[in-house]
Amino acid sequence: MSVHKEIKKITTHVLQQMKQEKQKIAMLTAYDYSMAKLLDQAGIDVILVGDSASNVMAGFDSTLPITLDNMIYHAASVVRGVKRALVVVDMPFGTYQGDSKKALASAIKVMKETGAGAVKIEGGIEVADSIKRILSAGIPVMGHLGLMPQSIHKYGTYSVRAQDDEEASKIISDAHVLNDVGCFAIVLEKIPATLANQIASEIKIPVIGIGAGQVDGQVLVLHDMLGITQEFNPRFLRRYAQLDKIIKDAVKNYINDVKTCDFPNENEQY
Ligand code: KIV
Repeated sequence: MSVHKEIKKITTHVLQQMKQEKQKIAMLTAYDYSMAKLLDQAGIDVILVGDSASNVMAGFDSTLPITLDNMIYHAASVVRGVKRALVVVDMPFGTYQGDSKKALASAIKVMKETGAGAVKIEGGIEVADSIKRILSAGIPVMGHLGLMPQSIHKYGTYSVRAQDDEEASKIISDAHVLNDVGCFAIVLEKIPATLANQIASEIKIPVIGIGAGQVDGQVLVLHDMLGITQEFNPRFLRRYAQLDKIIKDAVKNYINDVKTCDFPNENEQY
């Protein structure tokens, strides 16, 4: 059990302390009030309002379509359910690339309208100016390297990244850039464990992995780890429940009870 369970509010500073003290950071995604409340009560350190909402909440086949207003709706709902965890909000595709002033305006809108504690941005040196400008307004930024779902059309697949030396060197140098510009943590997604481990030992800020082996912390998409989604089955995913079956069985029982007039019974009416 982490000693940080006793901490009233997880801040970016606490996460950096956790790395120094070699305490692992547990992060999960959430997109709504009720789930966020359960995660927070269970003691999760960080809740990411991921743009994976585009997939698991809205049913799109990529993270590209979700809008800033959609993300703000999800993030504000999450924040209302959370007392202790740090809430980090993904900046959606098109709201921070190429124009640092637009990036700052998007990040300010997120912070003002949601009450979240930080934003997350995909990319390395290419988005460093946007990150610097957001940081200059006092908004903490989490980086994201390796598999970057917003770049799916550049790579064409969701397969493991950094399999060759050139891509591995680029990720290492980008991780240093993100560390040096002042990100408080980075996510490394779907890269070889040895590479992720090397990066985590080279940079000061916490490295949160997904499909990246043992680093300073881990993140999974909530609907995947709870077994609500079934179509997605990568090697790195551990399912901690099979909620699809539990939910479908409950709904089938309800349908049956309604059709057979078993529900509502005398005690369930006025
Ligand atoms: O959007 C998301 O859920 C993410 C995690 C997979 C890290 O970015």
